[in-house]
Amino acid sequence: EQQPIIVQGPMPIEAEKLADRLEDVKEEKSGSFVFYKGKLDGYPVIIAKTGKGMENTAAATAVAIEKYNPAAIINQGTSGGHDPGLHVFDIVLGKRTVNLGSLKTGSLNENEGIEPKNWIPMDLMASEGSAGEDPDAENIRYFKGDEQLLAAATAVKDEYEKGKVVEGTIGSADVWNNEVDRINWFHEKFGTSVEEMEGAAGAQIAAAYDVPYLGIRVLSNNKVNGGEYNPKTAEANQAYVLEVLKEYIKTK
Ligand code: 5AD
Repeated sequence: EQQPIIVQGPMPIEAEKLADRLEDVKEEKSGSFVFYKGKLDGYPVIIAKTGKGMENTAAATAVAIEKYNPAAIINQGTSGGHDPGLHVFDIVLGKRTVNLGSLKTGSLNENEGIEPKNWIPMDLMASEGSAGEDPDAENIRYFKGDEQLLAAATAVKDEYEKGKVVEGTIGSADVWNNEVDRINWFHEKFGTSVEEMEGAAGAQIAAAYDVPYLGIRVLSNNKVNGGEYNPKTAEANQAYVLEVLKEYIKTK
């Protein structure tokens, strides 16, 4: 039997336009997660409305893998720019995804203050021991985007005319950063192209089950170069993701 491809979107505006494009759609729910099961070019595709944030995404990813045994997962939606060379409507393909909330603070005593620039990246998956004591955990954990999904996305990038499509690093946490110095710190330390609140959570769970995974994120805002928030970017990204899906299905 054909294994479905799952496309995740956190917000209604990031999932429903895609669900409208499927044939024979049946809606299923698990908790707060909504799965629109249908077909695209005769191939099974499921659009998952996960809700926003890391926890919803991790849980929705595990539930979807257990329920539907997918061939691949695409996580898509909007993001905020960290790279001054990227503009609202540009799209980042997640060659790497990283959890920007995985940090260890420096060691300071009472009244010595808070020094966010000295916080150290922390890899919770470095070992089974205490991350606070393990020097191996003082590392950035990147999750790699799947090569075949990246190839399909690259093959159709000229179909997207509202901006450019580039490979980059997607950073995730349940945080909306609006401090430019802090954004620059992440950009320099983690190499982030954009930030959002889901990609690394889905990537971690997909990796746990060995399911191919790719983040595809449009910039809806970029504080670094004055790019104002534009919600229409969500729909533009979904139109591009639909082209990526069609291309990927050809290889199945
Ligand atoms: N920072 C964090 N999340 C962002 N999102 C869009 N832009 C940003 C940003 N600058 C996305 C998140 C989440 C919702 C708030 O919008 O992924 O789903």
